[in-house]
Amino acid sequence: MSRVELNGISKSYGTTAAVRGVDLAVSDGEFVTLLGASGCGKTTCLRMVAGFIAPSAGSILIGGRDVTRLAPNRRDTGMVFQHYALFPHMTVAENVAFGLKVRRVGAAEAHRRVAGALELVRLGDYGGRFPAQLSGGQRQRVALARAIVIEPTALLLDEPLSALDSRLREELQLEIKRIQQGLGITTIFVTHDQSEALTLSDRVAVMRDGLIEQIDSPAALYRRPATSYVARFVGRMNFLDAVVTARSSQEQYELRLEGPDPQVFHALGRQSAAFVPGERVAVAMRPELVQLGSEAPNRLRMSVEKAAFLGSRWLIHGRAGGGTAIFVELPDGGPIPSVGSALDIGWRAEDVLLFRHDDDTRSASAGAILQGEPA
Ligand SMILES: Nc1ncnc2c1ncn2[C@@H]1O[C@H](COP(=O)(O)OP(=O)(O)OP(=O)(O)O)[C@@H](O)[C@H]1O
Ligand SMILES: [Mg+2]
Repeated sequence: MSRVELNGISKSYGTTAAVRGVDLAVSDGEFVTLLGASGCGKTTCLRMVAGFIAPSAGSILIGGRDVTRLAPNRRDTGMVFQHYALFPHMTVAENVAFGLKVRRVGAAEAHRRVAGALELVRLGDYGGRFPAQLSGGQRQRVALARAIVIEPTALLLDEPLSALDSRLREELQLEIKRIQQGLGITTIFVTHDQSEALTLSDRVAVMRDGLIEQIDSPAALYRRPATSYVARFVGRMNFLDAVVTARSSQEQYELRLEGPDPQVFHALGRQSAAFVPGERVAVAMRPELVQLGSEAPNRLRMSVEKAAFLGSRWLIHGRAGGGTAIFVELPDGGPIPSVGSALDIGWRAEDVLLFRHDDDTRSASAGAILQGEPA
């Protein structure tokens, strides 16, 4: 039983509230990722679970045991840090054995477990090397072996792959997942990389300003973001400003887009929030759910400014009337609009998401802050 629970955890540094009352329950064997922008409190949360930072308020339970006041080495957590934290003067095997030595595990047993852990991270032949003789990816494998060799109740990983190039990163993501699932170990992973979070996790907690804004499965987070902040942070999203003109039932809304040529839009308000006629809302649509042509539902005209080839698909940049940036994704193989042309685009009502307008007010610049945008 290795459930990890954070109950109302807060941490303040003077007047800075780094974490402001986080509740999180990670089930036995579950992989949960804390995802969020720099400074939102991810590392602080993880270090409180590990015991390196004492919370200002709240409690932490691991396997049902209250560990809030326990020292890190009494919590049975294995931690991997963002920056390589290997001892340079120790060999790989000595590095991995370190936690066992601290725990006074006998030499024969330690030798066996170190060999097993190195085998698990595919570094069975590297025990005699020093960290300086390893690549970055190999060093992080050693750090992972060192964390799991103590057979921790929970594995805590703070951006373990962020210093690696994208190819190696993807390879190690698969390795981490394989090892985590093989051991069935409860894991909290921290990253600011949304694709990494979606790839690895059973559930993702999107953090913002010291709080969890939404926690859900990767698919639910992507399809049903609870707030425009989450919608913007996870995947690409188009945003337009609109006013609710009618609400025909609990589920259906008629909207008028704001701008020089007001369009009528329809949306199925499947989210929890209800909106009232006259209310300003942010209307959001995924680039890849676009429909083309003059028959498209909820139709707009965009001027095409750029077409970027992404391999299996094209990312089309342009603007709607009023100048709002619009992104659409089209599969490779179909017709690709030329730069300077006008394109009729639209979204099905069930693919139009609505958010409170004051939820996150930067809707007009949505495209500009997305990650990994081709220039
Ligand atoms: N020792 C400290 N003293 C004062 N403020 C701190 C301290 N450690 C962290 N903070 C502040 O707490 C907030 C959260 O920091 P934290 O390191 O948890 O962020 P993070 O989400 O891990 O960010 P990143 O993605 O950049 O690693 C930040 O505003 C940071 O400046
Ligand atoms: Mg951090």
